[in-house]
Amino acid sequence: MIALTAACNWDKTTPGYVYMDDMYRSPSLEAYQPATQFADGLSARKPVAGTVSRGEVPYGLPNTNEAYELSKRNAEVPAYFAELNAEDGKVLYGQFCSHCHGEKGDGNGILMQREKILGVPGYGSDRLPDITPGSAYHVIMHGKNNMGSHASQLSYDERWKIIKYVFQLRAEQNGGGAAAPAADTTATAAL
Ligand code: HEC
Repeated sequence: MIALTAACNWDKTTPGYVYMDDMYRSPSLEAYQPATQFADGLSARKPVAGTVSRGEVPYGLPNTNEAYELSKRNAEVPAYFAELNAEDGKVLYGQFCSHCHGEKGDGNGILMQREKILGVPGYGSDRLPDITPGSAYHVIMHGKNNMGSHASQLSYDERWKIIKYVFQLRAEQNGGGAAAPAADTTATAAL
């Protein structure tokens, strides 16, 4: 008791003697504090390689021409894609795609009109004869030439919602109303 009372201190601005100072001063690292136990000296560690964040759906196809061709066969398209309502992707499309591809998907977005970017295709079969939902997903994930990857900006579900809307625009560009053009249905059926 005497030893413990000796630690008391009438000066309220100092802690006095500290027994068991790892309870007083936390041994855990403060944000950005250097850490000698790691070779690079950083306390802020990256997630372990291969970490999958909650809700993330890994995409199996790499950014190669062969994988792009494979993606056209729609292997990664989820079953619920068929049930999606195209209109649900409209707002997202307006936020992420229309400045290049145009509100109607004619390839004439505001950036094309102002010549800030060139070579943006419309979604019609005249410019893109053989795209499928699967290949559109591939391009959203990896980008293609002047189009950068949009993978980090959209969740898994958002990507498919946008693609559903893109294929509605494609049908409209093809003059076919809401129905998907024959070429796309064949590709989907080939699954
Ligand atoms: C910065 C302008 C830009 C934005 C934003 C953009 N794109 Fe593109 N997109 C392009 C360009 C340029 C191409 C042509 C790439 C090529 O083949 O050279 C393209 C091509 C495509 C293609 C056809 C790819 C193929 O298989 O040939 C699809 C599908 C597509 N974009 C969908 C989207 C969707 C969906 C979004 C929104 C999430 C989007 N794009 C946003 C510029 C853009």
